[in-house]
Amino acid sequence: MSKTARAYTNIALIKYWGKKNQTLKLPYTNSLSLTLDRFYTDTKACVINNDQDIIYLNQTLLDQTQSQRIRNYLDTIRQMYSFNEHFQIDTVNHVPTSAGFASSASGFAALAAAINETKQLNLDKKQLSILARNGSGSASRSIYGGFVEWIAGSDNETSFAQPIETESEIDLTILSVVINKNVKKISSTVGMENSVKSSPFYPNWVTLVASEIKEIKQAIAKKDVQKIGEIAEHNAMSMHALTLSANPSFTYFEPETIKILQIIHELRQKGILAYATIDAGPNVKIICTKESLKQVQKYIEEQLSNVTCVVANIGSGIQYI
Ligand code: DP6
Repeated sequence: MSKTARAYTNIALIKYWGKKNQTLKLPYTNSLSLTLDRFYTDTKACVINNDQDIIYLNQTLLDQTQSQRIRNYLDTIRQMYSFNEHFQIDTVNHVPTSAGFASSASGFAALAAAINETKQLNLDKKQLSILARNGSGSASRSIYGGFVEWIAGSDNETSFAQPIETESEIDLTILSVVINKNVKKISSTVGMENSVKSSPFYPNWVTLVASEIKEIKQAIAKKDVQKIGEIAEHNAMSMHALTLSANPSFTYFEPETIKILQIIHELRQKGILAYATIDAGPNVKIICTKESLKQVQKYIEEQLSNVTCVVANIGSGIQYI
């Protein structure tokens, strides 16, 4: 009886935004993230006697269109490891429906680990990270807990994530502020492709990330949460500048996104530690300390009535349960 694989989501402090190889999902730059403890995906894979994969998400059977990306990924795995069997996949996302976290990182990391378990591939974490990357780039980082760096590499074997060891605990908490709106979304895959193709600033992004990765690693080593926040916020704003400067231009921001950014600036003027990071959507994740968290949350909830706040701490890597 094979075990269920559990993977937690991660939030990038230095973003992955652009691929030099679409098929292998090889990024132009390294990226660096924090795995979170609240939001995770549980996935179980069973070999079935069938010529098609059967895929359930949250106990609902997915049709061909809904499950195409997962089917393609399973085809990639069959090809990589030279076997033919098909699977029944049972996946449950433990991400509060309104938490505003993308599930592709935890989803593909859990799926890679579930196949590793069922097919007894005996992959080590580096190989598992490579396998997860083939599903979704950011999933390569969810194999590990804590701070994680994804090394861009130059081919399938050299592009993988690795943990950044920290000697002791770091006082960093994430407050996710969810804007309660159904926004028409440009997927990360499409958004980054458009940015690479048409933003005149893309070459500058590649140079910027190289220096910000170095700086943030120094700040992590010193447990300097303010510095981590400063670098992460600057990196996120620079990523969103790539969407605004793409041609045609696009943005993930909503009016409330800007409002939250303004509130964060006000909080900092009051001496409260708060820095923003934003992925391919309108929701804002705020980097806080245990001390600043309560004040930040109170202030946000007082100023904005139509948002939900979710607190997350540092989480662990892949588990088999
Ligand atoms: C903004 O990993 O979802 O969250 O590799 O095309 O599946 P694909 O993209 P994905 O992109 C994540 C983009 C991001 C930044 C990050 O997580 O580094």
